[in-house]
Formats: sequence, structure tokens, C-alpha cells
Amino acid sequence: MAYQEEYSAATEDPQTFWKQQASKIAWFKAPETILSHDENGIARWFADGELNTCYLAVDRHVELGLGEQVAIIYDSPVTGKKGKITFLQLQQQVSLFAGVLAKNGVAKGDRVVIYMPMIPEAVVAMLACARLGAIHSVVFGGFSASELAVRIDDASPKVVVSASCGIEVNRVIEYKPMVDEAINLATHSVERVVVLQRPECKASLQEGRDLDWQTAVQDAEPQTCTSVKATDPLYILYTSGTTGKPKGVVRDNGGHAVALNYSMKTIYNMSPGEVFWAASDVGWVVGHSYIVYGPLIYGCTTLVYEGKPVRTPDAGAFWRVVDEYKVNALFAAPTAFRAVRKEDPDANALANYSLDSLRCIFMAGERLDPPTYEWTTEKTGKPVVDHWWQTETGWAICANPTGLEALPVKAGSSTVPVPGFDVQILDSQGQRLGPNEQGAIAIKLPLPPSCLPTVWGDHERFVDGYLTTYPGYYCSGDGGYIDDDGYLFIMGRTDDVINVAGHRLSTGEMEEVLASHHAVAECSVIGVHDALKGEVPIGLTLLKDGINIDEEELQKELVAMIRKEIGPLACLKRSIIVPRLPKTRSGKILRKLLRQIADGQEVNIPSTIDDPSCVTEIQQVMNQRGLVKNS
Ligand code: COA
Ligand code: AMP
Repeated sequence: MAYQEEYSAATEDPQTFWKQQASKIAWFKAPETILSHDENGIARWFADGELNTCYLAVDRHVELGLGEQVAIIYDSPVTGKKGKITFLQLQQQVSLFAGVLAKNGVAKGDRVVIYMPMIPEAVVAMLACARLGAIHSVVFGGFSASELAVRIDDASPKVVVSASCGIEVNRVIEYKPMVDEAINLATHSVERVVVLQRPECKASLQEGRDLDWQTAVQDAEPQTCTSVKATDPLYILYTSGTTGKPKGVVRDNGGHAVALNYSMKTIYNMSPGEVFWAASDVGWVVGHSYIVYGPLIYGCTTLVYEGKPVRTPDAGAFWRVVDEYKVNALFAAPTAFRAVRKEDPDANALANYSLDSLRCIFMAGERLDPPTYEWTTEKTGKPVVDHWWQTETGWAICANPTGLEALPVKAGSSTVPVPGFDVQILDSQGQRLGPNEQGAIAIKLPLPPSCLPTVWGDHERFVDGYLTTYPGYYCSGDGGYIDDDGYLFIMGRTDDVINVAGHRLSTGEMEEVLASHHAVAECSVIGVHDALKGEVPIGLTLLKDGINIDEEELQKELVAMIRKEIGPLACLKRSIIVPRLPKTRSGKILRKLLRQIADGQEVNIPSTIDDPSCVTEIQQVMNQRGLVKNS
């Protein structure tokens, strides 16, 4: 009943509900206006409130006498380093680094791009921006220089903060040459680059532009927290859409802090002082919300882990970290557990560690397939919660609200809508569908606090991409159904976004890269099922007339182009040459049909197809190349 009561309260009287939640964080000026609409007609939360997110995450705990509590645990199996940072130490580090940024011209509203590996300094840089009221935009280290350049041009930062290198399994990846290349590629000119030199690799610094982090903090002036409006942006985080250009999701300060603070108890059932571990990366929304802001605002200890679930050094890595730091809640992508299961199917490594501290395992980022759910539950003996969310919302839309009431689990479902989200299933005309009927998943407006109010620099894209398809609703881009008990089942994206190892990628963007190859006349990239990564992209290419190139040679070149233009995380490893691509009469490539063929599913040939004979032809080619599941 606790869940139903809370859900009804949030739905029936959102203003009273969120006012109450807002009273649980410390404001510089408490909001009187709870829900209002901005000049674009978009719902905004706490518009007249003022606060500082860094204050909430750091200084407040020091003021409350918790300065000696550990704020960050750092564990890096790839370098062998481990460490702990208390809230007091974090306050000192953040205020000094904010001094570095301020001295280099960063003030409220300015943008700072952060391109860093999973080290505590990445968190320090984010919090330092928040302290000044500046807007950070973190770019995941697995993205290439070109992707970084696109984000630099869109966010137009004054400063880029980076490190000399990141460390992957047995491999040092130099970041600084990529930063230099990105700055050269970008048209926006960056005034300063601050580089953290790591012992594993020393970056060369450009005289007059680049600063060494350690030297710069030595004579920095510590900064206090700048008061910002609740609706001022805290960060921009780029995510993949259907086109090649990533979308800059804007997150405001006030709604974000209130929603995350609420989620720490309601969804994750945490208490202040406990240890929360999101085994993700600060480059993703999960990292923003649950490595950095959520746990710290709520007064938990967070864990910054620079490693993988496997191979650093083995499949016992997660269990070791849980045991060593007495982790209370673990949050990771299903792909991480699939990787552990693949290397240690019987979970033998668990015998070496105790999971006694762990209450629950949370998974998100992609669909939690029932076999992975069952394996994890059985081997760990812990409840496993699947929850569904997006970069756009910043926190879970559907979850098992374990802090209110742990509802019975249904494998394959992300359970029920979180209080504040009115989730509906709509047909193509925007009509509500009934239980068990599959359609587009939409959220009735207004969206609750923390959800994006716009796309950075392109409000029209926000309106067109999310609000126009179903007037009065936010269109999530996911499809699925709600069963008789109100449980939501996500069946996958309805657009051209794919999910590779929990990373959201655009097939449209990959197609743009493949199409730029001199031999390629037309192409299509589709996501096909992969036992480890959930989905992986494959490329289908049509050669230009008169061009003769070996399929393997072309594949090698295309794979290299994707790595260079997008980054290794795109994981495009296969491409084939096809004689034709199935299209509609209006010339649209039938990607869904291609996916059905690759996944060995029943193929539904749409009536709009231009030439049905193309289907058998492409089926044969894909079969020959071993690209049809079970073929
Ligand atoms: N910097 C540079 N390169 C990176 C990188 C980073 N931060 N992160 C990944 N890469 C590279 C990898 O080295 C790899 O390169 P390779 O093709 O040369 O081997 C490539 O990008 C793909 O990386 P990844 O998808 O991580 O594959 P993997 O084989 O190294 O590891 C898993 C597989 C399943 C262990 C890993 O994907 C994983 O832990 N996934 C969890 C994902 C996650 O946390 N998602 C966040 C959402 S909650
Ligand atoms: P991102 O914005 O990178 O977090 O990716 C969001 C997308 O990942 C969603 O739109 C879904 O397609 C997918 N996703 C995230 N969590 C889940 C989940 N629990 N179940 C199914 N799909 C999910």
C-alpha cells in the first residue's frame, strides 16, 4: 500500500508532493513557486528557489559535522591504487579546483568540458563547476576526438579539463593527443586546457594554453558556493538521437537535487552514511546521478571504480569490491553481469568474498534479460531490481520502490512507475492502450523534477523530438506494454537508437560514417542481438557502380573509420556488401525488416515495400555471411 499511496499523492497533487520533497534539501532561498511554466511553455520546478548543488553534495555535510566521513572511495585495479577522500578533504579539493577554473575565467553559466577517466579528480572537476554555477559537460573517454570536437562546438566551453591518460585492460590510452586533435577539429576556440598528469603517461602541454592540474591548484584561491536559480543548468550531457548530431540534454540544479535526494531512499532504500556503488562511468547519466550527485547529496559514501567487471583481474572483481568496502547497494548494467557469468558461470569466485553488507543489486541501461536476472539472483542470493530510465530523465521512470515497499518481482519487467511519472502506452494515433497491449511508451506532462527542459542550443529539437508526436505527452522512444498488475515491460527502442553494452548509440550516426567511404553508395547499420553486449551494430553496404573492393578489406576500413570517428565503444566489428537494400516505395531503408532477418525472427514484409523479391535476396546474403542468428 505504501507505494500506491505515495504514487497517488504524487499524481493527484504534484505541487504539494514535490514541495514536501523539496523541503528535504537545503536551499539558499526556499522555493515558493513549485510548478510553473517558462517562456516556452515548458513545466519548470521550483523556479524562484536558489541553491548550489555542490554545497548540497559537499559543504553541507561538513557544516553538519560529518567532515570526517568518507565521501569517495577510489579503487583502481588497473593501476593498483586505492584511496579514500573525506567530505572535508573533498571540500578542500573542490574549492581549490574551483579556484583554478575561476582564475581562468570560468563563472556562472560558462561551460566546461570534462574528458576524464574514472578517477576522483573527474568528480572534483564536476563539483568545482557546480560550485561556481558553471555548466559541465562530461564526455565519456571511449569517444573519439571527432565526437569530442562535436561536443566542444555545441557546448562552446571556456575550459576543457582532462587527464594525460585513461587505462583500459592492459592498455594505456593517451587522452591528451585526442583533446588536442578535438580542439583542432572544433571551430569553437577553447581558452584553457587543464591536464591532470598521471604517472602512467605524461602528456605534453601546449605553452600558453595548457595548465598542469597539480601546479595550478598550488596557488589557487579557494572558492565558496555561488547561489544559482533552481532552473539554471547544472550540466549538459550529450546522448545519441536518431541523427548523427548528439543531443545536449540539459539538467537543471533544483529539480535534479530534489529528485535524486528522493530517489536515494525511495528507489535504493539507502540511509545516509552507507556505501553506494554505481559501477558505471562519469561519462554516462548513471555516473552523473549515482556516482556523483545522488549519493553525495544524500550523505552516502560513493565508490569510484576504475576497472571492469572482468579481466581486472578476474570475474571476482565486483564481489571483491563489495566485500572490501562493505557496499550496501550495487548498481550496474546487465551486460556487466553477463560478462561475469560468461567467465565464471558457477560464480566460483564468490566463495572468496562475503556479500553480507549488500542488500540489493540494481540494474539499468538496457533490458535485463530473464536469464541474467535469474543467474544473478541465484548466485548472489540478493534481490535484483531492474529499473528503466534515460539520460533525459536523470533518474528512474520505472522501478521497484524498495525504500517504500519491495514489490514482487516479475523477470523481464522494470516494475512500476516511480511516483511523479504518469506512464502510458499509446498507439500510433496517440490513443491510450489497455493492459498487455504493446505500443509507444509515453509520459504524461508535466514531467517530474530533474527531467530535461530543453536540448542545449536547440529548443526546437526538444519539442520536435519529444513533445510533438503525442501532444500532452513526452515520447520516450521506447516501446512496450503494461500488464494487468501495472508492471511495465520495455520491449526496445522504436527509433534508430541501439544499446551496446549499456551504451546508447545512434545507428544513423554510424551510417553517416560508413557512407563517407569512397566505395560506399548506400548503407544501413542495424543492431543485432549479442549474447554479451545485448546488441552490437553491423553494417550492410552497397558499393558504388564500377567499384571493386574485397569485402574483408572494406570491413577493415569501415571498422577503423568507426573507431576513429565515433570511438571504440561503438563496437562495429562486422560489415558486409549486399546487392540491394530493402526499401519502401518512398526510398526509406527497412531497418526493422533487416533486424528481424538478422535475429532469425519471423519477417513481416510491410505493404509499402518497393520490391518484395529483395527480401529473399538479402536473407540469402546475410545467411551466407553467418549474420542470421542460428544460421
Ligand atoms: N576510454 C577509452 N576506451 C574505452 C573506454 C574508455 N573509458 N571504455 C571502453 N573503451 C574501449 C574498450 O577498451 C574497447 O576497446 P577495444 O575494442 O579496443 O577492445 C571498446 O571501447 C569497447 O569497450 P567495452 O564495451 O567496455 O567492451 P569490453 O570488451 O572492454 O568490456 C564489458 C565488456 C561487458 C565488461 C563492459 O562493456 C562493461 O563493463 N559494461 C558495463 C557498461 C556500463 O557500465 N554501462 C553504463 C550504463 S549503466
Ligand atoms: P541512456 O539514455 O543511455 O540511459 O539510455 C536510455 C535507454 O536505454 C532507454 O531509452 C532504453 O532504451 C534503455 N534502457 C535503460 N534502462 C532500461 C531497462 N531497465 N530496461 C530496458 N531498457 C532500458
